[in-house]
Amino acid sequence: MKSTQFSISEKKTERFTGDLIVYCLERSSEGSFRCENEKVLSLLAHMAPLGEFSAKTGECLLLYPQTMTEKGEGELSFSAKRLLLVGLGIIDGDQKSDELREICRLTGGTIAQQAARVKAGSLMIHLPEIMGLAANELIESLTEGCVLGDYRFDKYKKKDPENESYQGIDEVCFAVRVNSSTLKKGMLAGQVAALAARGARDMANEPGSSWTPAHFADHGRMLAQKYGMRCAVLEKADMKRLGMGGILAVNQGSVEPPKMVLLEYRPAHTTQTLLVVGKGLTFDSGGVSLKPAAGMEDMKYDMCGGAAVMALMQAVGEERPDLGIVAIVPATDNMGGGAAVKPGDIITHYNGLTSEIVNTDAEGRMILADALAYGIEKFTPDCVIDLATLTGAVIVGLGHHRTGLLATDDDLAARLLAAGERSGEPLWRLPLGPEYSKQIESQVADMKNSGGKSAGTITAAAYLQKFVGDTPWAHLDIAGTAWEFTEKSYIPKGPSGVGVRTLLELVRGWKKEAMKRDPRPTATSQLQSGEKKK
Ligand code: BES
Ligand code: MN
Ligand code: ZN
Repeated sequence: MKSTQFSISEKKTERFTGDLIVYCLERSSEGSFRCENEKVLSLLAHMAPLGEFSAKTGECLLLYPQTMTEKGEGELSFSAKRLLLVGLGIIDGDQKSDELREICRLTGGTIAQQAARVKAGSLMIHLPEIMGLAANELIESLTEGCVLGDYRFDKYKKKDPENESYQGIDEVCFAVRVNSSTLKKGMLAGQVAALAARGARDMANEPGSSWTPAHFADHGRMLAQKYGMRCAVLEKADMKRLGMGGILAVNQGSVEPPKMVLLEYRPAHTTQTLLVVGKGLTFDSGGVSLKPAAGMEDMKYDMCGGAAVMALMQAVGEERPDLGIVAIVPATDNMGGGAAVKPGDIITHYNGLTSEIVNTDAEGRMILADALAYGIEKFTPDCVIDLATLTGAVIVGLGHHRTGLLATDDDLAARLLAAGERSGEPLWRLPLGPEYSKQIESQVADMKNSGGKSAGTITAAAYLQKFVGDTPWAHLDIAGTAWEFTEKSYIPKGPSGVGVRTLLELVRGWKKEAMKRDPRPTATSQLQSGEKKK
């Protein structure tokens, strides 16, 4: 998909001659409207009695101003082809900025949907004023929603020569009273976040045979080259040498070689490092513990954690925050070939702990365990966050509306909860504890890879917990939200790109005093020789 050109202008909206001009309208509790344009208001004064438009959030009214100029009354001297009025709902001053941002994102998404409906390429959006929300945040959220909503994945569909397919919004110009660099920064921030999330959706939409572990590796190298980061890819031989028995076991039944992709962003003078690990399971058949056929096609999305982490690094490359960030994506598919790992097999993870494989479908924790232990040993991060479509159980508990959060550190958990709220990707924390860890005790090994049906999300996290030592750690189970996420104007059917904007929000808000503990010593780069640097 090509990307949209965004700009800001102080010119009069009436002069805009493009495809669609947009006004956002607030609704007061008495039922009247609020909008900065008098003409729009006088028009609504005529329409209000009909009761067809009440400016509820997301409600739309599409008008053709050219056809309306002949009548004297309600004359609309707009030069644009279409006029779109979008409701913002009631804004009463009680709403928190998180809520107002979400209203703006939803509005941006609605605008993109309406643009697609009429195939509008050039848009002007009159930037509204919203009580309680700074203009830069407003323009950021509107832009974010608009770019997130302007998403389609149709590369595998036949082009129809009769009906030229819509390629998305070409340009958006925000009409403002006074332009400023803060507005521009806000707009850019919205674009960066949304384009990164769209990138994650693109990776996820690719079939399992078209987005393989090797594609993760290539993508990592591409990002490294583009943004001056370091990328190292651990190959199967490296994994053997390092003793990564988890990812190797999961890969055993596959013909597709596994990769562990490491991407290092290290700005000068930073003392803190965040490690992010994403499950890059490019297709999960379940292995010998085969999944049922119905819906198995969705298991191409089992790499959404890895995609989110890669997409985060794209945004990080664009914004260059003042914080070291290392991303690791352990990538493989989970197949049941003749050499596949069998239930009952015992494997040894990178940190030396052994695990009895009682269910080959509980593979995510096995590849993450090696990545977490390795990443923490190698990079001594100040904290570590992993993202994974780890358990069906999280869907039972939270549905498709919230990501599961499990953490060993309250401060980190609080930050993630706040970042999720701020980005419209809400999280819900679940507990950890020895009772749950007991469920994964094995008779024959240090642990087993499934704790049975009850508390499935927590026992999966309890498994990971054994590999993070005392490094503050948080785990995001995105199985319910990575696709089929609560449908909204800016969240399409299919993969959502969840996690990308939450992590970016966390990174943006990171302060030096963030983790209230002694900074750990970090070298400029801790990639050792002997690993391939690209
Ligand atoms: N990738 C799945 C989790 C999943 C299931 C994500 C459904 C989205 C929708 C994971 O690898 C898995 O199979 N987990 C098992 C674990 C069980 C065998 C202990 C599960 O949740 O059933
Ligand atoms: Mn599985
Ligand atoms: Zn899986």
